[in-house]
Amino acid sequence: MLAMSALDLDAVRTQIVGLATPLPRREGTPGPAINLDNAATTPPLRQVQATVERFLGVYSSVHRGAGLKSQAASAAYEEARAVVGRFVGARPNQHQVIFTRNTTEALNLLAHRLDLAPGQVIISTELEHHSNDLPWRGVAPVAHVRTTPEGALDEAHYAALLNQYVGRVRLVAVTGGSNVTGYVPPIHRMAALAHAHGAAIVVDAAQLAPHRRIALGDLADPAHLDYVALSGHKLYAPYGAGALIGRADTFARGAPMLAGGGSVRRVTPQIVAWADGPAREEAGTPNAVGAVALAAACLALENLGFEAITAHETALTAYALDQLAGVPGLWLYGDPDPDGAAERLGVIPFCLDGYDPHLVAAILSYEAGIAVRSGSFCAQPYVRRLLKLEHAGCEQGQQGLVRASFGLYTTEAEVARLVSTLHAITAGDYDGLYALSPTTGSFQPIGWKLAPQSLFQLTERGGGF
Ligand code: ALA
Repeated sequence: MLAMSALDLDAVRTQIVGLATPLPRREGTPGPAINLDNAATTPPLRQVQATVERFLGVYSSVHRGAGLKSQAASAAYEEARAVVGRFVGARPNQHQVIFTRNTTEALNLLAHRLDLAPGQVIISTELEHHSNDLPWRGVAPVAHVRTTPEGALDEAHYAALLNQYVGRVRLVAVTGGSNVTGYVPPIHRMAALAHAHGAAIVVDAAQLAPHRRIALGDLADPAHLDYVALSGHKLYAPYGAGALIGRADTFARGAPMLAGGGSVRRVTPQIVAWADGPAREEAGTPNAVGAVALAAACLALENLGFEAITAHETALTAYALDQLAGVPGLWLYGDPDPDGAAERLGVIPFCLDGYDPHLVAAILSYEAGIAVRSGSFCAQPYVRRLLKLEHAGCEQGQQGLVRASFGLYTTEAEVARLVSTLHAITAGDYDGLYALSPTTGSFQPIGWKLAPQSLFQLTERGGGF
């Protein structure tokens, strides 16, 4: 049984959009959808949807119109900025909140704006999602901190790299929580060491933000974080906004990544005077709906309370690790110890002996309505290292892993269904014959066709136009 948790799961689940959508199954009647792919994308909260609906009533041109609706929309956009800043403990006199499309854009923006001097290097880690690795490779030499065979950060190697490049490390770029193993690096300890070596630190908080409170900290605190990046679509607000929150002085000088309307104070044929504050980084009409949605999600999670969210997800993760370990031929990656659940996120990678991970994901989907992700999760170096394939040819490392990832609304019954379906798969007790589709790279059941369009069609209701 789950440990006592302050989350009222029944109430929480009424706040999640889409849980009641029945999914057709390969055999039998349609059943409930079980989403264990929250590390990729979370469903919207009803509070977020409702706030967006209300906002659309005043939706209008942001920072560009004299109309009253435009003024209301502009004020809402700025209120959203303040809410998102407070969500990560930003100080208005030290930090700036820049709205982006997502974490990937936020990290690319920071890479563009760091203005690295010749000879400077960036330290990233082998844990990273590609979005916290590739943008840095574009602007400077990148040294990667090694991971242990279990997928934890090798802190001794981190210290060694800081010493090896002493005086040259501009930035340490690390995830707040791995999207592959749920491993949570010691970001504040890393920050203190980075600062002691004259480097700044950015935390890719895409995975961390839905699960743990984030505190940037005062710039005077040696363990502060200089920048964090996060995404609305992993934070129950899939309306196309993310944010980069970080020290304002970084953005006080220089040209933005995107130039255009709204990013300037004055333009003549000869000169461009850039706007001050976040406007400089937000050229073009901003995604005010996304920003308002993101802020609404931040408020909803704060109201729920991160203590309750963490307690629930920790108990669920411990239960899942314990139960998955009992599936014959199932290999867990990362830390398999249920007692360590409080120190990691509910993101669990595994494989089944003799089964292609994409086949396992297909059977889970078509026969049990369970959504997971399979493959390398946009983190190929880390997955290859976990699979001990880092010295093998690329094509040998293509298969990857299966990943189950939990949200604040995931139940023990849903995890139990995953576990029982995996037991059935290893016993050969599943209905379909599956074939690899060369076009999609995924497995499809033979002789059973389900067009995903049967779940949603844009034109279903016709329309007046
Ligand atoms: N970061 C996304 C995931 O892990 C893409 O699925």
